[in-house]
Amino acid sequence: MQESKSTPHTGHGKATGPLESFTYDDAITRKFVTATLVWAVVGFLVGLILAVELPFPQVNGGLEWITFGRLRPLHTNAVIFAFAGNAIFAAIYYSTQRLCKARMWSDMLSNLHFWGWQLIIVSAALTLPFGITQSKEYAELEWPIDIAIAVVWAGFFGVNFFMTLVKRRERHMYVAIWFYIATIVTVAVLHIFNNLWVPLVAMGEPGSLLAWFKSYPIYAGAQDAMMQWWYGHNAVAFFLTTPFLGLMYYYLPKAANRPVFSYRLSILHFWSLVFIYIWAGPHHLHFSATDEWVQTLGMVFSIMLWMPSWGGMINGLLTLRGAWHKVTADPVLKFFLVGITFYGMSTFEGPLLSVKSVNALSHYTDWTIGHVHAGALGWNGFMAFGMIYWLAPRIYQTRLYSQQLANLHFWLATAGILAYVISMYVAGLTQGLMWRGITETGQLAYPDFVETTQAIMPMYWIRIAGGLLYFGGTLIGCWNIYITWASRPSEYEVPVFEAPALADSPFTPEERPESELDGVLEIGKKIDVWSTLWWHRVWERMPIKFTVMTTFAVVLASVMELVPAFVVRSNIQEIATVKPYSPLELTGRDVYVSEGCYNCHSQQIRPMVAETKRYGDYSKEGEFVYDHPFQWGSRRIGPDLAREGGKQSHQWHVLHFNNPSYMTQGSIMPEYSFLMKKQIDFKSIPLRVAAQQALGVPYPEYEGDNRSKAADDAKAQAAAIAAEFVQQNQGPYRDDDGEVIDLADKKVIALIAYLQRLGVGLDAEPAAEPAPATPDSEETPVAVEPADDQPTAGGLASTVGEKGAS
Ligand code: HEC
Repeated sequence: MQESKSTPHTGHGKATGPLESFTYDDAITRKFVTATLVWAVVGFLVGLILAVELPFPQVNGGLEWITFGRLRPLHTNAVIFAFAGNAIFAAIYYSTQRLCKARMWSDMLSNLHFWGWQLIIVSAALTLPFGITQSKEYAELEWPIDIAIAVVWAGFFGVNFFMTLVKRRERHMYVAIWFYIATIVTVAVLHIFNNLWVPLVAMGEPGSLLAWFKSYPIYAGAQDAMMQWWYGHNAVAFFLTTPFLGLMYYYLPKAANRPVFSYRLSILHFWSLVFIYIWAGPHHLHFSATDEWVQTLGMVFSIMLWMPSWGGMINGLLTLRGAWHKVTADPVLKFFLVGITFYGMSTFEGPLLSVKSVNALSHYTDWTIGHVHAGALGWNGFMAFGMIYWLAPRIYQTRLYSQQLANLHFWLATAGILAYVISMYVAGLTQGLMWRGITETGQLAYPDFVETTQAIMPMYWIRIAGGLLYFGGTLIGCWNIYITWASRPSEYEVPVFEAPALADSPFTPEERPESELDGVLEIGKKIDVWSTLWWHRVWERMPIKFTVMTTFAVVLASVMELVPAFVVRSNIQEIATVKPYSPLELTGRDVYVSEGCYNCHSQQIRPMVAETKRYGDYSKEGEFVYDHPFQWGSRRIGPDLAREGGKQSHQWHVLHFNNPSYMTQGSIMPEYSFLMKKQIDFKSIPLRVAAQQALGVPYPEYEGDNRSKAADDAKAQAAAIAAEFVQQNQGPYRDDDGEVIDLADKKVIALIAYLQRLGVGLDAEPAAEPAPATPDSEETPVAVEPADDQPTAGGLASTVGEKGAS
């Protein structure tokens, strides 16, 4: 491997100019390491709380801020962007300086990057629990934070990194740098294009803080889903994979004191990863209302990804050849070995899960949850901790406090992740099989959704145990690093290095080799020469060309994947009966988004017998044309809600939100009694409608001066629903203290208006076959009202009164 040694050297030839002196900025690495550990504790702790909330929904104590739906995005964002993010920044700042023989271009930008990023994370923690969210997974942060991310990522981090490359003193860019380049460029592209929105403030003065933060994405329905999973999958690729591979390529050979196994393999798997990954996103949308060809394309490219991924794994594992004896003694290598093994496992499992027939079983289940934790805790977590143990003695200039504690951390983490992953596999398979179970007479074997929830409770317990072990290991790791830091010298030494400037360092152009093949066509010789990859050596000296080529690969793949789905209008069959949401329904939808219901509920019925039997007719693309943002969800902790409209009475919903397990025995849905007290923000409704209009949703009745009519209509609809509720309930709503509450201006009514609307726009055949009478209906103390009594539920009359589908 090519990299700077700790002793300065001047290259192979003779330098033509004077030597320059320089130092490295390790203070920035220390900062990022601290942040990594702090956010690891926060992110994992929130994960643990969520894991406990599932079997015990009441532990949230009825507090809205920590309900599962609001907290889960905080967990994912904290682990991905705060823990893994700070880890890769620590990795990049330390290694880039050494690989480039140059201090970071600007200390100020380094620090702006550090503090800016921490501020973004803090603002995530201050917004998500308050229901301020865009609801797109791993892109939940609202628009002002989106802008901050773009500035910090591209403006501070990107500029600083690329200027350091330009000012480097080592001509050749080592493979780790290629991966960093791909990361910086692609994450910027993904973030920007997935986060194009219209904020409510653009439409006028929003009365409340919540409305001030609110925005709608410019994409709708199936297109929003395409963009989101193009982003979502590549966030995994370019935030959790490429930078960690870069990390592996730098720190593993250092720790093992062995060169990287194969240089050619690293070139091959770098370019194939960069190009192929982009296409794989649609595998998150199998059997959904996206075009079939898009799904198949996603599957094919996902399967192809297996090879380049394993190229990376093999290069990592075989770098340890001849160093295996060290693995048993060195906790750093242990962490790396298990990390790379989990990388191999998850990148085998990923392609497997993207095969449509496997996905038919696994999708929406906890199998996916097992898969992502194998990646995030197994691969990212182990690599990050391995790196930190390697860095600690170097950046704190002292000995690691305790090898034994590091080993203990390793074993706790290993046991923890195994318990976690295995329990989730069992849970996922159980769910998947129970959902699709059909009896001999063609009925659902488990018509009651909660049966499938209850069946996996023991697995939820094992998951908590696994999480506790992993978390315990993390705490021990933090303690170990803290004591190490505490024994640092009173002042850090700052070694000074010397090297000539790049322009003055010797340069031998790469020579095109001659083919040694004999008796073959000219073209054969050309291919032979090309496949020596000598030209890549040339690129490796040209950061701008390298960056341009990487960007080109990523953008080309994105354009080919996304553009057909956008330009071919006929791709989406419009359904004449699908109308925009009424102002109240739209507001209720925003409540649904804000509460994060999509974290537990899908709105996407796949064309499979068991699924259409359970939920109704399968979803069509045309149903979602007004959905900014889409709410298809990716997980079913609760049942699908795509055809919820008309299934239950208003009263049922109110009582269910008040106390889900009262209405459905064994429910693990959190209670939402606070929705009975929160006012609907009627003032913001005209702005919401106007923002939708700006995105092309037709609301002719609210154009121009008629805008404020939207709020009046919402009030009228809310009053009607509230009155129907009182009638169904044979009395007003009373809270736990017996106090009467008028629901007509409360959020719960807006949410119910939205739920009663779901799926009824599809004026097609009756949505579900007559369902069998289910035992559940006996537990339901409420008579279900006929749907035609409800103003919003047309078309689905035939499904009314059956509870079997829940
Ligand atoms: C922790 C996961 C979770 C969250 C968050 C959650 N739910 Fe549920 N939900 C469930 C489960 C589990 C069930 C099935 C048991 C039951 O009926 O309570 C369910 C059932 C339902 C049902 C009944 C469907 C039917 O007809 O049988 C509705 C409606 C519903 N949820 C709406 C919501 C809404 C709206 C939100 C957001 C405000 C939400 N849920 C948040 C887990 C969740």
